Amino acid sequence: MDGNGRWAKQRGLPRSEGHKEGAKTFRRIGEYAGNIGIRHITFYAFSTENWSRPEAEIKAIMRLFGSYLQEALDRLEEDKEKGIRLRFLGDRTRIDKKLRDLMDTVEDATKDMAKVNLNIAVNYGGQQEILHAVQTIAADAQKGLLSPENLTLADVEKRLYTGDQPPVDLLIRPSGEQRLSNFLLWQCAYAEFWYSDVLWPDFTERDFDEALLAFRNRNRRFGGI
Ligand code: IPE
Ligand code: MG
Repeated sequence: MDGNGRWAKQRGLPRSEGHKEGAKTFRRIGEYAGNIGIRHITFYAFSTENWSRPEAEIKAIMRLFGSYLQEALDRLEEDKEKGIRLRFLGDRTRIDKKLRDLMDTVEDATKDMAKVNLNIAVNYGGQQEILHAVQTIAADAQKGLLSPENLTLADVEKRLYTGDQPPVDLLIRPSGEQRLSNFLLWQCAYAEFWYSDVLWPDFTERDFDEALLAFRNRNRRFGGI
């Protein structure tokens, strides 16, 4: 989700207003994805590099995240038919304890939802995710639980934050930027990329459809011919 700040700047508003509007877009697109049958979707909300932003902006983003989680909990009963399972990708240790507890509660409360897996990447970095997987592998090897020569790709995959979820088919990046920015590095090995100049707060269901149509016309060969 990119372009919140520029969206606000264009309107002479503080950046936090852009994040507020972006959070609305997130709700809209997340729900839409579930409605049209997307089984797995991940939103990049906050990267490990985003801590370098001014403290007030970080606080504003975390506050919005917290209200979304609280809302998800409050609406649990009425949202049941939407079937959204919420999960969070990233290193939680740096996240405020109250927010972390809320994340755990939401994950637990939605764990039996089966329609759509909605992941939110928070304090997420793809390189850090791989490093974390490597650390647990090294620790297991040290304990004699696995031997390096028998390691498989699956051994790495199951240690990623995405666990048993499938790799990325389509990566959508709004706001005119054309880079991966440390997002799901391992999982994007064969992802199709789709870029748009639309700023995230302005991103609509039609833009999402456009990305899906483009994806449908891609010829995916996965290294074959
Ligand atoms: C939202 O957009 C992404 C977050 C880190 C929350 P930005 O805040 O990066 O917006 P721009 O790129 O400054 O326009
Ligand atoms: Mg940005």
